[in-house]
Amino acid sequence: MDYALLLANFATTDAQPSWSQQRLLHECLRAAIRSGTLHAGCRLLATRQLAAELGMARNTILYAFEQLATEGFVVTDRRGTFVAHLNVAPPQRAGAGTLGHPGLSARAACALPPSDPATMSAFAPGVPSLDDFPIAIWRRLLDRAWRALAASQLNYGDPAGEPALRSAIADHLRAARGVLCEPSQVFITDGTQNALDLCSRSLADAGDVVWIENPGYRGALTAFRNAELRVVAIDVDEHGLAPSAADWRDHPPKLIYVTPSHQYPFGGVLSVCRRLALIEQAKAVGALIIEDDYDSEFRYDGPPLSAMQGLAPNAPVLYLGTFSKTMFPALRIGFMVVPPSLATPLAQYVARSAPRGRAADQLALAEFLRTGQFATHLRRMRRLYRQRRDALGAAVERHFGASATLCGSSAGIHLALVLGAEVPDARVSAAALEQGMIVNALSSHAIGPAQAARNGFVLGYAQVPASAMDASVRQLAALVQQYRQKAAPL
Ligand SMILES: Cc1ncc(COP(=O)(O)O)c(C=O)c1O
Repeated sequence: MDYALLLANFATTDAQPSWSQQRLLHECLRAAIRSGTLHAGCRLLATRQLAAELGMARNTILYAFEQLATEGFVVTDRRGTFVAHLNVAPPQRAGAGTLGHPGLSARAACALPPSDPATMSAFAPGVPSLDDFPIAIWRRLLDRAWRALAASQLNYGDPAGEPALRSAIADHLRAARGVLCEPSQVFITDGTQNALDLCSRSLADAGDVVWIENPGYRGALTAFRNAELRVVAIDVDEHGLAPSAADWRDHPPKLIYVTPSHQYPFGGVLSVCRRLALIEQAKAVGALIIEDDYDSEFRYDGPPLSAMQGLAPNAPVLYLGTFSKTMFPALRIGFMVVPPSLATPLAQYVARSAPRGRAADQLALAEFLRTGQFATHLRRMRRLYRQRRDALGAAVERHFGASATLCGSSAGIHLALVLGAEVPDARVSAAALEQGMIVNALSSHAIGPAQAARNGFVLGYAQVPASAMDASVRQLAALVQQYRQKAAPL
């Protein structure tokens, strides 16, 4: 492959004059991969050689490769950097459909997970205890809402959601999460995934830089990739997002996605100092922070930290919440709290792009909140999940001993079980699935190769009764033992 010629052709036909060399190279290689000019499995020239061939700094090449890896176009291992098997047809053959996934766009095929496990099983992350949801109360509220519904409410609804629900959510967030908001800033969504899609499409343009935590939440990555944003993976440490001065200088973001109250998947809590610093720096570069507060209603050791959104007046923060963990995922109701200046333009955008409906569900939920039944349910679930978390901690100690570390167990409904590098967590995860147990590999949450992934598992414990915890953990420990790579002989 003549990379210099490839780049020269791309520069004259497709590039924009304002692009940096890094952007030019990244876009050029991405286009070559998409068109099939660089085919799946093909090894890219080593960064040092490519730098010499193109007359560019090696760092420029490294950043472009890292970006491609983050987006899933290349994979890197000890042997070098290879074009990923995207299972997509090159665009010129698009009429034939996408290879391996007929009818899917390349964008959609890239977003497909390697497997699609069910979520009703021991340790499935993010699923609350469905058996403990008060279905009878919910059915009554729904019934009442439907009976009170006027025919006019069968029409398209308010694009931002039912006023009664927006108001009830604003009251709850002010009291429970320290969020500064008026009902006019609250937008009802079909859950956080829908909110992330909306944010990606309405608050950034294709090619704009979005920061994502690494390791991080793949649902956010999917939304950002779908909107063709430039995803930059920022490493987290035990306290959460930890951007360096170089990150701010070299990749100033338009959007920053962060899970400050319970980093996903490691569970770090971003300290107040870090939160304030992030807000200040975001203001300085004109970035908007997307705070995903997905499970902070469950906090077991001490009072919760308030949301970032309410930490400083006029903080450039858009706050996301969901009822998937506090109620049930199939409800598909979440919300965003947008800065006041965005409320009107976003309402206009949503009205055109995502008409709302399901008034009865929203009104029943407003009633659930307003009458205090939501708070009662949360209190009950907090007690139950604390018991389950404690049982999990004790079982891990019994069956893994000092070989495992638990992270992020002070909040939420999952924790991270961190194991040594000798545990091939992805293989154990696949083997566990065959035995009917969902344990997502920690290494699968790495976003690009920027950080050596830690090995271990994300363990969702909300659905596992305390009495069943020991047996499930014993089963997992036996599998880990079976797959643990033997130390090489000296
Ligand atoms: C980090 C994070 N954000 C948000 C969600 C919830 O998304 P949704 O409201 O789309 O169900 C999850 C679900 O697992 C999650 O892990």
